[in-house]
Amino acid sequence: MGEKKFKRTTVTAALPYANGGVHIGHLAGVYVPSDIYARYLRLKKEEVVFIGGSDEHGVPITLRAKKEGVTPQDVCDRYHKMIKDSFREFGISFDVYSRTTSETHHKFASDFFRKLYDDGKLIEQETEQLYDEEAKQFLADRYVVGECPHCHNEHAYGDQCEKCGSDLSPMELINPQSTISGSKPVVKTTKNWYLPLNNYQEWLKQWILNEHKEWRPNVYGQCKSWLDMDLQPRAMTRDLNWGIPVPVEGAEGKVLYVWFDAPIGYISNTKELCDSNPEKFGSWQKWWQDPETRLIHFIGKDNIVFHCLIFPSMLKAHGDYILPDNVPSNEFLNLENDKISTSRNWAVWLHEYLVDFPNKQDVLRYVLTANAPETKDNNLLGRISKSATTANSWQFMATS
Ligand code: 2FM
Ligand code: ZN
Repeated sequence: MGEKKFKRTTVTAALPYANGGVHIGHLAGVYVPSDIYARYLRLKKEEVVFIGGSDEHGVPITLRAKKEGVTPQDVCDRYHKMIKDSFREFGISFDVYSRTTSETHHKFASDFFRKLYDDGKLIEQETEQLYDEEAKQFLADRYVVGECPHCHNEHAYGDQCEKCGSDLSPMELINPQSTISGSKPVVKTTKNWYLPLNNYQEWLKQWILNEHKEWRPNVYGQCKSWLDMDLQPRAMTRDLNWGIPVPVEGAEGKVLYVWFDAPIGYISNTKELCDSNPEKFGSWQKWWQDPETRLIHFIGKDNIVFHCLIFPSMLKAHGDYILPDNVPSNEFLNLENDKISTSRNWAVWLHEYLVDFPNKQDVLRYVLTANAPETKDNNLLGRISKSATTANSWQFMATS
């Protein structure tokens, strides 16, 4: 990965949303590869930290809470534990697995935003947004459903149409409906803070398209297609009551956009790790601000734009941080709306699969690695059960 010599490596694995269990496809595409990489570096006696954690903000968590009649924090507590247990059982060797509802993270993300704000790196913009008069709240992203203006699917979400894959904004939906009260929303003006990505476009082009030609073709290609268009200012705050409050006067009822705070979670989780064991890990700054540190983000393909364009622009705007040296992403792996069967309860499956004899995770790890969805993921499960059966009987013979 690159020619430059580094002294140490910070490895991150995408923070899964705490609104469901870990999926076998995520293990195959993100967590096993990142774990193998971290273990490999440790074996070579290199200095490394491997950072994970749960992503606990954003609209899907609030919707699940509402559906179940519990608080968003209840949802996060339940799934954070389930996810953390699955990773431990499966032997993913994170040095830290924390969460974005931690106090450390709230303060860290809030200070990060405030620095950008104080340095004049954010712009304030008023826009018209959909508002639910019954629930008395603005309707971000998934709080609205309606007809897709492109393919006329009647069940498109405010941020995306899952039928034709278009990125949408709630205002584009035909016949929008609030998912909170079911009422027809009205249009109201609101103020939010934006990162002017257009200011970073030329720099991003130089940094990625010229200096990182070695990135995987799917990652490079997606960056290029975005950078060939005109980048627009992107909202870094939302009208929502679940998340990290926007630390600016007059911003009541607004929180940091989940995609602003989640990647900062990599840094705050590193801080938590270093503060808990400074003799072993040193200072968090060493892992995030020293140009001799190599930063590698392992992600799913629906995370490419955020990790390659938006988060680096945030880091650049802040000014004190290093940038990723590589962003390995599996071409066929969506973290959120996975194409691989989502009907199964993978946390339970994994637990039952691993429980009956020790070291069985090594077999599954081998099988997942050998079958990682490098080229297609639609039959991963079939291939896993087939090879797992073979590998199991092989291990069974070896141990009996
Ligand atoms: O797609 C997802 O599941 C996101 N929760 C990934 C976030 S990665 C990072 F930004 F934290
Ligand atoms: Zn559509």
